[in-house]
Amino acid sequence: MSAPQHETLFNDWEQPAPQVANPAPGTAPARPALAPINAADKRVVNGKADINQLAPFKYNWAWEYFLKANRNHWTPLEISMSQDVHDYHHKLSQPERHVFENVLAYLTTSDILAMRNIGLAVMEKMSAPELQIYQARQVYEEALHTWTYQHCIESIGLDQQEIYNRYRVVPEIHGKIALANRRLERVMRSDFDLSDRANLHEFALSYFFFAVIFEGCWFYNGFSPIFALQRRGLMKGTAEQLQYIMRDEVMHCAFGIRVIRELLKEEELTLDPAALRELWDEAEATEQAYASYILRDPILGYNAELHVQQFRFIANRRARQLGVAEPFPGAANVLPWLDEQANLRKEKNFFETRVTEYQTGGALAWE
Ligand SMILES: [Fe+2]
Ligand SMILES: [Fe+2]
Repeated sequence: MSAPQHETLFNDWEQPAPQVANPAPGTAPARPALAPINAADKRVVNGKADINQLAPFKYNWAWEYFLKANRNHWTPLEISMSQDVHDYHHKLSQPERHVFENVLAYLTTSDILAMRNIGLAVMEKMSAPELQIYQARQVYEEALHTWTYQHCIESIGLDQQEIYNRYRVVPEIHGKIALANRRLERVMRSDFDLSDRANLHEFALSYFFFAVIFEGCWFYNGFSPIFALQRRGLMKGTAEQLQYIMRDEVMHCAFGIRVIRELLKEEELTLDPAALRELWDEAEATEQAYASYILRDPILGYNAELHVQQFRFIANRRARQLGVAEPFPGAANVLPWLDEQANLRKEKNFFETRVTEYQTGGALAWE
């Protein structure tokens, strides 16, 4: 016997409500309508609730993230780069130029990877619209970050051909990108079925890598060499751009950690400690190699050892936020100013460069 036709016409969330069994005499049978959904039916992945229906919310916090992200809107064109042009050509030492250029060379490619991960590998697997909507905003923000690096590179007059190719030809930069690409490619397969428990674990591990390590550690810590210049009054335009990016990345990381926590709870899944250890060790080794290259000569107030020690300290914080064991117990906070750097208001007041808290909502005028 063939299956009822509606099973081939509707997705899971489009199943018609049961017809009214005994319509009143003289009235037509009730037309098939969709059954209402309940918030409790929503899941991070493998959900059956309607992906096109926003409310009722299950993940109210995700909607709040979306609203908050929109209040933080900015573009790189709003920040003056003129002093940076002068600083780069006339004030930076050769080791400082080396640091500056290579940090940009790494970040440009990284943010494209971050965009592709969230847009192509993660977002399409989410089964609640409030999660997808924040991630759609995140995709845009990663594109905005790429524009920002391009704007810095262009404003300062760096050789684009050379800068953008650097991650390909410098093994120490390529190592971080290659590691991320490996994680991304595995979960981007079109036949990647999350009803399979091994695949589900791999997806959670990949999301962990991107949200916690790639964005939460590598990005968060990755801006600090340029912040070290900013603290000496150098490259302040670029540093300010990075502070805006950092504010976005802090949200991306926090959102990702929240999603992973929900996912693990809903799916009764535990991340394999051995797999996590391998991830942390790989991340530390590639970060160490990267730091040794970009800071082969230390600059005033910053060196490779500080960079790696701070990576370990941030990694422990992220692990605590997710509720897993600290990977590097006892790591010290060797750059106590880094967290302050994430606080835009404080830095703006310090350098007195521009408005303290940029929010488009308050800036709109209609006359
Ligand atoms: Fe980004
Ligand atoms: Fe990000």
